[in-house]
Amino acid sequence: MGVGAACVALAALAALAALGRAGRADAGALGDLAVFVPEVLPALPGAALDVSFGDLAVDFGTDVSPTDAQRAPALAWDAQDAALYTVAITNPDIPTIEQHIYGELVHWLVGNVAGNDVSAGDPVWEYLSPGPPKETGTHRYVVLVLKQPGRLTFDGEPRNNATTLDDRFHFSLQKFAEKHGLELPPVAGNFFQSTWDPTVDKLAQVRTFKGQVVATLKP
Ligand SMILES: *[C@@H]1O[C@H](CO)[C@@H](O)[C@H](O)[C@H]1NC(C)=O
Repeated sequence: MGVGAACVALAALAALAALGRAGRADAGALGDLAVFVPEVLPALPGAALDVSFGDLAVDFGTDVSPTDAQRAPALAWDAQDAALYTVAITNPDIPTIEQHIYGELVHWLVGNVAGNDVSAGDPVWEYLSPGPPKETGTHRYVVLVLKQPGRLTFDGEPRNNATTLDDRFHFSLQKFAEKHGLELPPVAGNFFQSTWDPTVDKLAQVRTFKGQVVATLKP
């Protein structure tokens, strides 16, 4: 094989490899967040947000099981020096993807994040991992980063812990943003989805809603 033929073969291989990465049926793009406009977002975020649960990278609609999502994801975005950000995970699909009667449910909200250091931010709502009830189908979790006008105190927010559902239903990311002066649309976003697995039943044993253990509540 001559040098020219070898180059053509290499180029073909590279093209195939690229197709393998980009050609997955579930490969996503920023524009996929359009399904949440205008309910959750007024417009598309400025950029894709890097979201990962351990080795599992989220790519606009990736399935992440409740088991794999028990710990908050790592996030990365192009943070400006001296800027502060709020990061949030919000789920409109309460009780189901078709009916949003009790949504959004706020799963995580951390304010005053500098750089990408979410762990050093101010946890306004601690991370409540996905717990989609059995037979309610797939729920979608929108992960967003919003730029703050400066340092915020989040006065009047309930500041609930990771084991209670109290004050998390009927959330509105947009209303929250307007109330605290966060920039809209968000600077970066992504989303994943999750469906019941046995971990959900374990979580229901340790979570409460209005003083009752979730496992004892009638749907
Ligand atoms: C979490 O908050 C709920 C509701 O306020 C409370 O009953 C529960 O004791 C709290 N759990 C922890 C671990 O602080």
